[in-house]
Formats: sequence, C-alpha cells, structure tokens
Amino acid sequence: MSNAPRVALVTGCSRSRGLGLEVCRQLAEQGITVFLTARDPSRARALAEELRGRGLDVHDHQLDISSDESVRAIARLIEERHGRLDILVNNATGSTPDAPPVSAVDLESAQRVVDVTLFGTWRLIQATLPLLRKSNAGRIVNVSSSAGLHGDPVWGLNSKIPVDPSYGIAKAALNALTVKLATELRETSIKINAVCPGFTATSPRLAARGGRPVPEGAEGVVWAATLGEDGPSGGFYRDRELQAW
Ligand SMILES: NC(=O)c1ccc[n+]([C@@H]2O[C@H](COP(=O)([O-])OP(=O)(O)OC[C@H]3O[C@@H](n4cnc5c(N)ncnc54)[C@H](OP(=O)(O)O)[C@@H]3O)[C@@H](O)[C@H]2O)c1
Repeated sequence: MSNAPRVALVTGCSRSRGLGLEVCRQLAEQGITVFLTARDPSRARALAEELRGRGLDVHDHQLDISSDESVRAIARLIEERHGRLDILVNNATGSTPDAPPVSAVDLESAQRVVDVTLFGTWRLIQATLPLLRKSNAGRIVNVSSSAGLHGDPVWGLNSKIPVDPSYGIAKAALNALTVKLATELRETSIKINAVCPGFTATSPRLAARGGRPVPEGAEGVVWAATLGEDGPSGGFYRDRELQAW
C-alpha cells in the first residue's frame, strides 16, 4: 500500500465563513492533500492561500459543478497529478433566500436549486468515480440538510419554519442519490454517506439565530470523509449519529 498522502476534493469553498473552507482545513490538518474549489477561481485562490500560509497542502481550482467542462477539467487534473482520488466532499449547494409556499414557487428558480444540489453533485460523482475506484478507501460525503428529512420536526419536510421549499426537496433527492449509489457500490471499498452539519453559523444572520460554530458543523463531515474500513455506507448522519429520513 502506498504511503502517499490521501487526496481530497471539496466543492463550494467560496466563503471565508463557509463550511467548505473549514472542511478543507480540518482535512488538511490530518495530512491530507486538499483541492479547495469554488466557482470563482479568485475566491478559491484567496482561501487556499490562507491555508497554505498555515503550512497545509491545499491546492485551489475553479469548479462549477453545473458545467460538464469544469467537472471534466478537475477530474483530469487530479488524474494527471495523483492518479486517484480518496475523498470527495460534495459541499456545494443551490439555494435561494426566498421562502414562498410550495404551491407558489417559481419553478425556474427551483430547477436551478435542484440542478446544482442534485444533478451537479451527481455529475461530479460520475466524473470522479473512476478515480475513487483507484483509491484503497474512497469516501464520498454528500453534505445534506435536515431540511430534506421526513422525521426532523424542527427543520424537516413537515417544518413550518419558512425556508425555500426547493432546498429541502433537492436535499431529499440528494439523500436518495446517496442510498442508490451506496447500493451500487456495496461490493467495493468506497463508502458514501449524507451528512447534515447541523444549524451552523456560516453567516452573521445564522450566528444571530444561534447557529453552532463552523468547526463544530464541519466535524461530522470530516468524520464521514475519513471513515475507517468498518465505517458505514448509505446513511444520513448528523454529529456521527444515524438519522432516519
Ligand atoms: N449553514 C447551515 O446551517 C447548514 C445547515 C445544513 C446544511 N448545510 C449545508 O452545508 C453546505 C455548506 O453550506 P454553507 O452554510 O457553508 O453555505 P455556502 O458557503 O453558501 O455554501 C454553498 C456553496 O455552494 C457553492 N455553489 C453554488 N452553486 C455552485 C456550483 N454550480 N458549482 C460549485 N459551487 C457552487 C456556493 O458558491 P458561490 O459563492 O459561487 O455561490 C457556495 O460556496 C451546503 O451544502 C448546505 O446545504 C448548511
């Protein structure tokens, strides 16, 4: 078995308070080589520089998961440099700040949310699966949300809290994708799980409403990204605990 550091790819790292950056930091602090990606390459560069300044092995790259070309480019780059991918963290999401009733949602806007959250993630998984198969222990984490759960009374699909309905619906579909893929990959060493970071203070607005510190939210994602051989696959987790969905 090679002693080369594990290689991770994290999507949606455009904000200094975002979970994506923190996941990159926590992975890199474990000695993992991390590709920190964002739609805007200047954001990826600035955030990666911050981590490189702390001596971490972090590389920045543009990645728009809605674009076949962009997704193919990152897969090609990782293939050329490392020949494999060990960890894929699908952190990017579509969302809107609006919270109309589901009967009145603008369907073009809803389609954009689903396009990123479900199809963007699916596209990147398809493009990187050949590289994950070359790893001894491929791990995929779909960063999901309790908004896509049936059973969460506070944030779930039955919640009365006004949140964009397309977000919860897209995350429910992402959870379904997680199960379907885990089933397909059952006989391989690849594990795929959905993880909710919990209500996390990734903006001043969420901090004011009592969101947990960002490192705490990221911890469960990093746990699923670094699961051992006997770890689970096909589940939905929050704080390392299996949730029914
Ligand atoms: N914060 C919470 O309380 C909470 C709770 C439950 C789940 N989550 C989940 O945690 C993850 C991170 O959330 P966050 O709070 O840290 O928010 P965030 O920083 O806004 O994360 C979303 C990221 O997705 C990126 N993105 C959107 N469309 C993209 C595309 N086509 N290609 C690539 N990237 C794209 C955004 O980039 P741009 O800046 O370019 O738009 C942004 O970097 C999300 O999956 C979210 O659903 C968060």
